[in-house]
Order: sequence, then C-alpha cells, then structure tokens
Amino acid sequence: MYQEILKKYEPTKDNLIYILHDIQDNDPQHYVSESAVQSVSEYLRIPVNHIYGVLTFYTMYSTTPRGKNVIRLCESPPCYLRGSDNILAKLKNTLGIKTGETTSDGLFTLELCACLGLCGNAPVMMINDDFYGDLTDDKIDQIIHNIREAK
Ligand code: FES
Repeated sequence: MYQEILKKYEPTKDNLIYILHDIQDNDPQHYVSESAVQSVSEYLRIPVNHIYGVLTFYTMYSTTPRGKNVIRLCESPPCYLRGSDNILAKLKNTLGIKTGETTSDGLFTLELCACLGLCGNAPVMMINDDFYGDLTDDKIDQIIHNIREAK
C-alpha cells in the first residue's frame, strides 16, 4: 500500500524524512502507522527502531491516528506574549477537546508546537499546511466554522 510513495524515492537513508512526510501527508488520519514504518524499514534497509527515533524526535510526525484537520498552535514566547494561551483556551472550548485529543467526529486534532517562523503575526497556528496569524477569538470561530461547513 505504500509502494506508490516509496517508489518515488531512491532507497537511501537521506530520503527517510521525505518519505515519512509523504506517507503522513497521504494518510487520511495524518499519521505514520506501524505497517508504514515496517515498509520503510524494508525499503531503506534501516532498523525500525531508527525510524521510530526519527518519528519521535520531530514533533510534526505522529505515530497515532489524528483528525482530518491537525491544528498546531505555536506556544513559543513571542506567540505566548501575544496571547496564545487565550487562543488555546478558545480552541479547547470551541472544539470540546484538550491538547493532544481529536474531536469525536474525527475532524480536528489539537496540538501545540514551537515557533512556526511567523512571529510577526503572533499568535499563529497551522491547520494541516495552512498558516493562520493574528489570531483572535472571532477568527477562531470563523476558521473552525468554515472548515466544518466545507467538510
Ligand atoms: S513564536 Fe509563534 S510563530 Fe514564532
């Protein structure tokens, strides 16, 4: 099932993080499964433990299933100083979940992350590959509403 992705890459160690990204991006639950790790291990001829080491080192990877939309809110100091904790409270309240959880409809997972490189627009979050800055409670309402409408 991962062969389509794997065959796009030369079987060298250097491609590991790109392959893991590709697998995660193409998984409907935005994670890298055990069977994916096994396939990558065989393809690149590297131990499964090494792959898990990479998966746990980088926060953008997940080894557990996540929602269709993965929200990653920046918690680094510039965002914190501009109210990311209030935005986090708003997200938790709006979605009815805690950090690290997924909504029961499988639509959203809420995570925290380090600086996203857009500190000038703090507070900032990503939803999948899209960035949202200068967040306010009203913006959160609007963004979540739009995604729910579009599902
Ligand atoms: S500190 Fe949040 S984007 Fe840089």
